[in-house]
Amino acid sequence: MKNILVINGPNLNMLGIREPAIYGRESYAALLSYIQSAADALGLHVACFQSNSEGELVTAIQQAYGKMDGIVINPAAYTHTSVAILDALKAVGLPAVEVHLSAVETREAFRQISYAGMACEKTITGKGFAGYQEALQYLAAKE
Ligand code: DQA
Repeated sequence: MKNILVINGPNLNMLGIREPAIYGRESYAALLSYIQSAADALGLHVACFQSNSEGELVTAIQQAYGKMDGIVINPAAYTHTSVAILDALKAVGLPAVEVHLSAVETREAFRQISYAGMACEKTITGKGFAGYQEALQYLAAKE
C-alpha cells in the first residue's frame, strides 16, 4: 500500500469559517474525513498534516523522505511566497501534486505565481475537496 502525505498550509484549519463564498462551508475536519474516504477507496494509506507555520511545513516535507511515496500539498498562502517549500519538495524528490480549493488562476495577481507548483507534477485548482481526490488518484495510478 502506498503511503501519501497530505499537507495543508495556513488558514486551512479555518475552513467553513474563512471566506465561505470562496472556500465553502465545510470544515477542516470534514476535509480530513473526505480525504480518508478517498484514500480508502483508492487503497492508499494517508497521513494528513496542517500547519500555519512555513518552517513546520518544510519539516513535514523533509520527514516524508524515505517514508512516503508521494505528497499532496495545498501550501495555501505560502504557495505564492515560499521558496523554502519549493526547495523542500525538490530536496525530497517525491512525486507531488499541488491542490487549491479555489480557482487561483482567476483571482488576484499576487496569487498567479506558485513556487511550490514548480516542484509538482500536477496542479489541480478550483475543484474544492474533489481536487484532493483527483490528486490522490493521480498518485495511486503512478508506477
Ligand atoms: C488556496 C489559495 C491560496 O491563494 C490562499 O492563500 C489559500 C487557499 C486554495 O486552496 O484555494 O489560503 O490555497
